[in-house]
Amino acid sequence: TQAWPGIIEAYPGRIPIPDGAKVVTLGEGNTPLLPAPHLSELTGCSVYLKVEGANPTGSFKDRGMTVAITHALASGLQAVICASTGNTSASAAAYAARAGLTCAVLVPQGKIAMGKLAQAVLHGARILQVDGNFDDCLELARKTAADYPVTLVNSVNPVRIAGQKTAAFEICDVLGEAPEFHCLPVGNAGNITAYWAGYREYANDGVVKNTPRMFGFQAAGAAPLVLGEPVTEPDTIATAIRIGSPASWTAAVKARDESDGLFDAVTDEKILEAYRLLARKEGVFVEPASATSVAGLLRTAADGRIPAGSTVVCTVTGHGLKDPATALEGNVEVEPLAVDPGAVAAALDLR
Ligand code: F0G
Repeated sequence: TQAWPGIIEAYPGRIPIPDGAKVVTLGEGNTPLLPAPHLSELTGCSVYLKVEGANPTGSFKDRGMTVAITHALASGLQAVICASTGNTSASAAAYAARAGLTCAVLVPQGKIAMGKLAQAVLHGARILQVDGNFDDCLELARKTAADYPVTLVNSVNPVRIAGQKTAAFEICDVLGEAPEFHCLPVGNAGNITAYWAGYREYANDGVVKNTPRMFGFQAAGAAPLVLGEPVTEPDTIATAIRIGSPASWTAAVKARDESDGLFDAVTDEKILEAYRLLARKEGVFVEPASATSVAGLLRTAADGRIPAGSTVVCTVTGHGLKDPATALEGNVEVEPLAVDPGAVAAALDLR
């Protein structure tokens, strides 16, 4: 068998790239679609987790970035730029390093998880911290790319969406059909747009018969799509989705309406509950934003909006190691216990 070639070559003809372009890949995609027995028991549904933390830089962003950086390299420009709550910048930094391009990232000061910053640093990105939120960063990145020879690799660049839609293909390829429901965390709204494009494409081509209902979940303090208007001071522990004015607003609303889906909000408390449940009961360590899809599943299954018996996929978007600080917070009881070499068994109550 051949090694997985990354999403561009795994789905020939489905992702447009320039003629003769050299593909820049780190082997992204082909992530686990993991049955979730505990969540299935709690909800009475068949629940699967699409574990996107298993991508090369630890988030789903790699699917779009392989395409964006492949295009950027082919364009002949030497530099790329993005705004980010952390994962896009980590991914852009890695793929730019691979391609030999310069990468600049604009991040909100003090509001990005340490693991993500570490990635951007080590991959050699130019990191600019902005005294503002993600929305301010994106505006600056757009302006810079409009005025200077540098490629914008945020998901407002349509080739990013074309890459990210492959997660929907992979789910259908494994299940043999589309799920009935798909739950996602929603921030800038690129990913829900991409999944819906992927599901629609497979259905239009007759690869699958149906499309899922798209359920998008936002953190209660950063829920513009639920409120129906931008939020000027978004706030949530889930820093990845701390966004008040999603760039893909219109496309996300279309995904909801065409799929008979919904947007709903979940509190930080419920996000952290789902975050801990995933780790303790399913063995899956995600970053807080990723648990938003699962918090949303639990909420909508409990009130019947997702009926028992349904097949549900929850995307968990990023790896838990991205944000070790949140994992250790409030967990004093599991802080390492100092132990003498002779006292290990006693400390564990083994006899
Ligand atoms: N989950 C994680 C872990 C993310 O990093 C993001 C977005 C989302 C969910 C939401 O996806 O924006 O397509 O609706 N992170 C972006 C970033 C904004 O800069 O890394 P979305």
